[in-house]
Amino acid sequence: MKVLGIETSCDETAVAVVEDGRTVLSNLVSSQTDLHARFGGVVPEVAARAHVEALNPLMQEALERAGCRFADVDAVAVTVGPGLVGALLVGIAGAKAVALASRAEFVGVNHLEGHIYANFLGHGPPEPPYVCLVVSGGHTMLVHMPAEHRYEVLGQTVDDAAGEAFDKIARFMGLGFPGGPALDRLARAGNPAAIRFPRAMAESGDYDFSLSGLKTAVLRHVKAEQAAGRAVDPADLAASFEEAIVDVQVSKTIAAAEEKGVRTVLLGGGVVANTRLRERMETAGDQAGVRVLFPPLELCTDNAAMIACAGASRLDRGERTPLDVGADPGLELAS
Ligand code: KG4
Ligand code: ZN
Repeated sequence: MKVLGIETSCDETAVAVVEDGRTVLSNLVSSQTDLHARFGGVVPEVAARAHVEALNPLMQEALERAGCRFADVDAVAVTVGPGLVGALLVGIAGAKAVALASRAEFVGVNHLEGHIYANFLGHGPPEPPYVCLVVSGGHTMLVHMPAEHRYEVLGQTVDDAAGEAFDKIARFMGLGFPGGPALDRLARAGNPAAIRFPRAMAESGDYDFSLSGLKTAVLRHVKAEQAAGRAVDPADLAASFEEAIVDVQVSKTIAAAEEKGVRTVLLGGGVVANTRLRERMETAGDQAGVRVLFPPLELCTDNAAMIACAGASRLDRGERTPLDVGADPGLELAS
């Protein structure tokens, strides 16, 4: 079964062709970063318009690279939420048109489920249950999955998302937008123990996160050092900030896995591309006897192969989405 995946929830237009829910035949991402960089963040209307321009040529190219035509598509899977409503609508309209014209099956996918299912591309799912850490530009969430497509949210951020925190600090440090990857590179040359930033909610006894206090602590530290006439080493600052985020994420994820008695942890979302998070999660997983899985780098950030993978799994269970479905900007992970 060939599934055409379409993802337009934020500032990446993405199209992929995935066979049998596992084999990626093509996976294209057209990033709008340059369009939004001068505004310092994603402008929803600019994003929607750019999706309109990019989607059709990208679909053509994804099919060509996969060695097939519209008529060969068995099903179309598209992100229906959460995300920017105008941006989502472009992908949904395109997906419906292809499904109708190609007489293909149609399935709507939750973007966060896509990030989790990115782990299964190439080899299919290991035996559930899992605990999943989803960390992206818009979400920071710990989820218990007793079975495939069953979600129990254990906790989430009470303020900023992890990616948002990375982007804000990177912007403050003049590293551009989106700043996560640049901050990651800089941090590799720094000492994570140089500055002891607060580990918010590390001892809260639940699975919630808070990141806005850390952002304030970083700003305060830099101002105090400058006022005292001391230079701040940017690499040390980046590494210490990153360590404060990663510390809490690692400890809460492992604690959740232990409490739920699961042997497999899945990491998903753009922030999982972070070098330090991957390293520390692997080490902590080894120590706790828990298997930690994360997608290859290009499947951590937004892409359509993950949407095709999650969609294929839902189609396998006999699920179909009616063609009158709309965009749901606040869509939650439902069981
Ligand atoms: O999942 P994603 O591509 O889009 C959303 O669903 O939000 O995540 C994007 C976020 C951005 O905030 C970006 O700065 C962050 O992921 N990110 C990273 C890294 N690569 C991307 N954060 C830290 N380290 C990275 N290497
Ligand atoms: Zn995402």
